Amino acid sequence: MTTTAYEVIVHKYDVIIIGAGGAGLRATVGMAEKGFATACITKVFPTRSHTVAAQGGMSASLGNMGPDNWRWHMYDTIKGSDWLGDQDAIEYMCREAVPAVIELEHYGVPFSRTEAGKIYQRPFGGMTTEFGKGIAQRTCAVADRTGHAILHTLYQQCLKHKADFFIEYFALDLIMDNEGVCRGVMALNIAKGTLHRFSAQMVVLATGGYGRSYFSCTSAHTCTGDGNAMVLRAGLPLQDMEFVQFHPTGIYGSGCLITEGVRGEGGFLTNSRGERFMERYAPNAKDLASRDVVSRAMTVEIREGRGVGEHQDHIFLHLEHLGADIILERLPGIAESAKIFAGVDVTKEPIPVLPTVHYNMGGIPTNHFAEVVTLKDGNPNRVVPGLMAIGECACVSVHGANRLGSNSLLDIVVFGRAAAIRCSQILTRNAPHRPLPKNAGEEAIARLDKRRYAGGNLKTSEIRLNMQRAMQNHAAVFRTGDSLQEGVQKINDVWKSFGNVNVTDRSLLWNSDLLETLELENLLTQALVTVTGAFNRTESRGAHAREDYPKRDDENWLKHTLTWLSETGQVTIDYRPVHIYTLTNDVEPVPLQPRVY
Ligand code: SIN
Repeated sequence: MTTTAYEVIVHKYDVIIIGAGGAGLRATVGMAEKGFATACITKVFPTRSHTVAAQGGMSASLGNMGPDNWRWHMYDTIKGSDWLGDQDAIEYMCREAVPAVIELEHYGVPFSRTEAGKIYQRPFGGMTTEFGKGIAQRTCAVADRTGHAILHTLYQQCLKHKADFFIEYFALDLIMDNEGVCRGVMALNIAKGTLHRFSAQMVVLATGGYGRSYFSCTSAHTCTGDGNAMVLRAGLPLQDMEFVQFHPTGIYGSGCLITEGVRGEGGFLTNSRGERFMERYAPNAKDLASRDVVSRAMTVEIREGRGVGEHQDHIFLHLEHLGADIILERLPGIAESAKIFAGVDVTKEPIPVLPTVHYNMGGIPTNHFAEVVTLKDGNPNRVVPGLMAIGECACVSVHGANRLGSNSLLDIVVFGRAAAIRCSQILTRNAPHRPLPKNAGEEAIARLDKRRYAGGNLKTSEIRLNMQRAMQNHAAVFRTGDSLQEGVQKINDVWKSFGNVNVTDRSLLWNSDLLETLELENLLTQALVTVTGAFNRTESRGAHAREDYPKRDDENWLKHTLTWLSETGQVTIDYRPVHIYTLTNDVEPVPLQPRVY
């Protein structure tokens, strides 16, 4: 194999954050505010991170639009998770939502306002008052550009607090020592083609989801789950990867997101008969049922021949009745996206929509302090020293089997903040650096060279398409054992075919097919554990809907899936218990119940 003798540039910090989306930036501000030598490594310019695309808002029981209570929010989130969420972590998130959103306001996020000048809050799916009795208005919004506003504000705060940024750096692999402690990370500067070794007391992964393992998703092309893949390569497990959320309203054809906020503001779905079919599937919540419920209902309507359009293969989303004024004030971005991607004037016609891959509930297992945990020596909550994970790459697990809309912006802010709080308790500012293991980073460089000089006969794009098609067809809204088994076989074949990849542009820069190949390798590792975890889970829960096992099975499956991946692509599975207990005596755990909306 050809190799290169690289010069490695060395950096030392107290804390390294990988990823500059909302979670990464919230952690970066927090660490810098607390006086840690802090650096954020990001493969795209911070304000281009995928949080920028988050539309509808961030949940917090402020009660600005009517009575609300964090305990109602907690109940909704547990029910939304189909009881797979860890209730201690959910309690923490819902309670901390209120100070976290106020903090954002003080940082300068320009929230939409009520007449009285309070933060405007809209209804979102599955968000209720009084434990399911009424509809809550709990989602704090900046029109339909909430993620954009939060991301820009947080970036400005990071600059104010003088955090260092390494922009257009692609993280290659974690540096782990022989005791299983994370000591840093290797990264490639894709603007200059140089190699870097970062050492730190704490590495915080904030690398987002892996939506791009599917053919059609609302995720940016950068969403390749790089942190999840690094964790797998470090010999650590990922959790609950079979739970992949389909957002009900991706624009038909492009997959571009149309916020749930549209339905929150009074929009609704219809089939080819003009029926508001959600009334049949969720008599109380209707169009504001949880996303898994709405996506399944839409899929059933299409399957049973009631889809709209020439091929009867999608559904209509109406907001024309809201009127141009409301649309322009509260949903201006939607009006623009619908025009560009569907050629639709939303004040006159419905938007053609289809359930589209949107979010990964699974990821790197953590506790509610953002510390990565693993199952070791019989302990299902063993902390991995030196390593944290936050945001979509993490599985705390606050979303369980299905995330509620607007709980994602909440999650990134609450746990970005939690990571900084925890570091202030367990790290020493500017502590002397322990020398790294002698061979630190060598494996990452060897892997880089292996891909850089790969001389097979398959194009990266060809292998990627095979993976995306297999995931789209075999790990979809509805699943069966047969189809998943075929999916496992296909993804394994694609994984094997990756050994035959051909990299033609061997430069180390961002526009080389080397970078795409490294991203593809990351995606493939996650596709493997996703389909395998899905095949193994023989029940239906939240976003994992098995037609051959249509019921939730608490007796056998009230547990988190943990998946490890060997270098040769072998998946190992184990399980850890769901936390059906709370952190404090302020609230009782929510007992298991049937989940109806
Ligand atoms: C949306 O606005 O519908 C997306 C926001 C989210 O996924 O929470």
